[in-house]
Amino acid sequence: MKDPEIRGTRRDDIPALVDLQRRIYPEIEPWPASRVEQQLEVFPEGQFVAVIDGRIVGCASSIIVRWDDWLTAHTWADITADGTFDTHTPEGLTLYGAEVFVDPAIRGRRVGHLLYNARRRLCRRLNLKRIIACGRLPGYHRYADRIDVETYAMKVVWGDLKDPVLNFQLREGFDFCGVIRGYLPEDAESCGHASLIVWLNTSYRPLRRPDPPPARTLPAPIV
Ligand SMILES: CC(C)(COP(=O)(O)OP(=O)(O)OC[C@H]1O[C@@H](n2cnc3c(N)ncnc32)[C@H](O)[C@@H]1OP(=O)(O)O)[C@@H](O)C(=O)NCCC(=O)NCCS
Repeated sequence: MKDPEIRGTRRDDIPALVDLQRRIYPEIEPWPASRVEQQLEVFPEGQFVAVIDGRIVGCASSIIVRWDDWLTAHTWADITADGTFDTHTPEGLTLYGAEVFVDPAIRGRRVGHLLYNARRRLCRRLNLKRIIACGRLPGYHRYADRIDVETYAMKVVWGDLKDPVLNFQLREGFDFCGVIRGYLPEDAESCGHASLIVWLNTSYRPLRRPDPPPARTLPAPIV
């Protein structure tokens, strides 16, 4: 298989993207085309597709957030403003992964890895501090009658269970930070829950603050 080209999403990709999303999540209502158009308008640099021979085979979409606004429990609908990306905050320091998927016919062939590379490049280029995402836990429904979701996720981290999404993200260098319950209630495979994961940008440099004025220009103290 040829390596896919990873490039910015264009408006003419939208019908194929919506079609792929419908195949990947048959149980979940796909984004209407107008929603993807809006996402592209809000943060075009954050939207990527993977293309092989002119065919869309995957996508990764992100926004920027101020993480302090969201660190308590939140849902996918909250943090993405129902997928409109109206919550995109350019002055934030966190690239937030809103969605990633790959055509089921070519999973396991590093397309997801290349999409994650594109995200990491964007994070470094914009000098953002980190990438945070809430990942699906699609293997959890098979264990939900026996163990709680926190135990399930920890067993994946410990290497005792395998989850198709969390294992992929751990291999991509993300750290598991905990579970967000009820993150995407319509995700039946994950029983609505998600894992909170982070990747730190080690080349992030805090912006220099302006120097304080020289002492001699300070007003004289009032005595
Ligand atoms: C998660 C996802 C994007 C990974 O994409 P991918 O192109 O298969 O990723 P890669 O090829 O770079 O990595 C694959 C690894 O993930 C795992 N994997 C996940 N699903 C797999 C599948 N159906 N077949 C084979 N491997 C799979 C494998 O462990 C594989 O490991 P390996 O590198 O040791 O072979 C893809 O599985 C997907 O689209 N899943 C459905 C949508 C989804 O849940 N997205 C996550 C939203 S949080």
